[in-house]
Amino acid sequence: MKVKGKDFRSIWVDENDDRIIKIIDQRHLPHEFVIEELTSVREAARAIRDMHVRGAGLIGVTAAYGMYLAALSAPADDFDAALAAAGDILIETRPTAINLSWAVQKQLETVRGVSSPPDKIALTLETAGKIARQDAAFSQSIGTHGLKIIEKISEAKNGETVNILTHCNAGWLAFVDYGTATAPIYAAFSRGIKLHVWVDETRPWNQGSRLTAWELGEQGVPYSVIPDNLGGHLMQHGMVDLVIVGADRTTITGDVANKTGTYLKALAAHDNHIPFYAAFPSTTFDWNREDGIGEIPIEERSADEVKYTRGWYRGEIIEVLVTPANARAVNYSFDVTPARLITGLITERGVCRADRESILDLFPERKP
Ligand code: MRU
Repeated sequence: MKVKGKDFRSIWVDENDDRIIKIIDQRHLPHEFVIEELTSVREAARAIRDMHVRGAGLIGVTAAYGMYLAALSAPADDFDAALAAAGDILIETRPTAINLSWAVQKQLETVRGVSSPPDKIALTLETAGKIARQDAAFSQSIGTHGLKIIEKISEAKNGETVNILTHCNAGWLAFVDYGTATAPIYAAFSRGIKLHVWVDETRPWNQGSRLTAWELGEQGVPYSVIPDNLGGHLMQHGMVDLVIVGADRTTITGDVANKTGTYLKALAAHDNHIPFYAAFPSTTFDWNREDGIGEIPIEERSADEVKYTRGWYRGEIIEVLVTPANARAVNYSFDVTPARLITGLITERGVCRADRESILDLFPERKP
């Protein structure tokens, strides 16, 4: 997507030195555009854990490149063990988004049965590139399928502005390009459909007010940032036509884990008969889990993310305390929206209902 009119992806291999992986350090956005270089698996793990990169798709792709960086420095006589250990380091950084462990497993499968270390290194680089390209292609297809939903609403409103609410950042910064929740929005906007996006600020890390707002602004899409608790009021007053969110892990029964607060939006949408969609690539399905609330691991992040907030003050990013200094704070980073509250799932293969039968119709190779 464009940044100041120039095309960017959220992660790429350095043009002059393929031992360097470049990322946009998202902690600095929207105030500064900082590109960071990753040269080891430890740096990749730190970038994921400390949210230099975030979002289900992108942490998967970063983990895939992290495995390549680990391969570059793995000792020839203990190569497979070193790679497996690197996989463990990466997987333990963030537990909820399944894309991360999926990407690590892909890399481990890639080198299985290959004997020469240089071949293994070349294969991990190739596989990371494939995962990144697939991530972008899947997001683009999600845009094509989701576009039809927005088109229908626009027609029903005789071309009046379609108001879409989104939570967190499931945009191109959360993937490699296009994003998932945002891909249908970009597709509709480029076709001239009148739309406006309500951007939940998404406390405590403010992925909405910092990242989604920045992304939409760079593409020229009209938006308004709203406090996390405003969505219900807007819905009650007919100011929301559609909710689209991303997903970090979706069970085979259609339960969706996404950024904390998603569930409350789904409840409000259900109560107000507003369509609520989750948009994600098939790499986000956890084919082995049935009960999202009981079975999906929910990341608990530092209480300091709740107690302190970051912002731009006199030319630099500063942190300020917003609670009593000794306050206890709790920071579960995700919640689970049960399938019954979800109108549909937008995937790269099309849109389906949030239930096992409909999901398996779209992905028949997963049928037992
Ligand atoms: O904690 P984050 O910023 O990695 O969480 C991201 C989200 O919850 C997104 O909505 C989600 O990843 C779906 S889109 C990748």
